Amino acid sequence: MDPLRKPDERCDGLPDSAFTAHYVDVPDTENGQLRVPAPGPVTTVPPAGEVFVGREPELVAMHEEWAAVLGGQPRVVWIEGDAGIGKSALIRRFLAQVADGGFVLRADGAEEESALPYGVVGQLAASIRQLDGLPLLAAGPVPDADALAVGSELLRVLGVLQEMNPVVVVIDDFQWIDLPSAQALAFAVRRLRLDQVLVLAAARPREAARLGDAWTRIAADPTRARRLRLTGLGASELGEFALGLGLEPMSRPAIERLREHTSGHPLHARAARGDPTGRAPLRTELTSGPAIPR
Ligand SMILES: Nc1ncnc2c1ncn2[C@@H]1O[C@H](COP(=O)(O)OP(=O)(O)OP(=O)(O)O)[C@@H](O)[C@H]1O
Ligand SMILES: [Mg+2]
Repeated sequence: MDPLRKPDERCDGLPDSAFTAHYVDVPDTENGQLRVPAPGPVTTVPPAGEVFVGREPELVAMHEEWAAVLGGQPRVVWIEGDAGIGKSALIRRFLAQVADGGFVLRADGAEEESALPYGVVGQLAASIRQLDGLPLLAAGPVPDADALAVGSELLRVLGVLQEMNPVVVVIDDFQWIDLPSAQALAFAVRRLRLDQVLVLAAARPREAARLGDAWTRIAADPTRARRLRLTGLGASELGEFALGLGLEPMSRPAIERLREHTSGHPLHARAARGDPTGRAPLRTELTSGPAIPR
């Protein structure tokens, strides 16, 4: 089912139950009844046959943060590293490993849209099927909407959803998100208290400086966030990587030379070994769209 499909849209040949069976009603003290999808796994579909090696310490750290979230402590995992170092691949890997029920809200920064006010908030809101009592998110915030008001609506969405299931908010290419969205998100994240919400943000550190202080402070605050700095892969991981790509096995000296030449950077290593496949797709599939009806 198309994750962005509204519940009242129908497809020929599919019974109505295909579009309604997955929802449950949740009482909301502020706005009456809410309709959200029944619990489902936090599931993403890594590209078929995607090779992934190493990053055990980072994955352990992410699972620790997830465990804290399940215990009612909101957390941010701030993943930083240069272009092509493996931030998106790490997020895909982690999400594929997390089998507990939960919602995934996702947005991706884009350099060419970094001046589009609330573009990223709009992407997050689009993952939700209906937005009752949340006028700014429902209509899409106008460019001069108050970022704190938008942030309050985001906070409410996260609060309602997490009562049902833990929530993972994934924002990839964070360095390019528009500034009003960055401000609204920072407002919401700073006000999460006992919520089961994990924010996964991936950014190139140099470019992320354009976002200003609020996010620098959040990422640097251990009471809220864990910072993961990705560097190159080690020698044994590079050897494993080459094998996983179906390339010729490499001798130890050849692996060392590759590491020296590429600093263990997976994208460069891939190119240096003549792998023609280039980048894997970066999108994570949202398998169920949370709904807050009008
Ligand atoms: N741990 C890994 N094991 C195997 N391949 C990897 C690993 N990390 C990254 N890659 C591969 O390297 C390439 C670049 O990775 P990725 O797109 O995740 O980088 P990125 O840090 O998100 O870059 P950008 O800043 O441009 O978004 C991809 O083809 C990816 O599949
Ligand atoms: Mg990426």
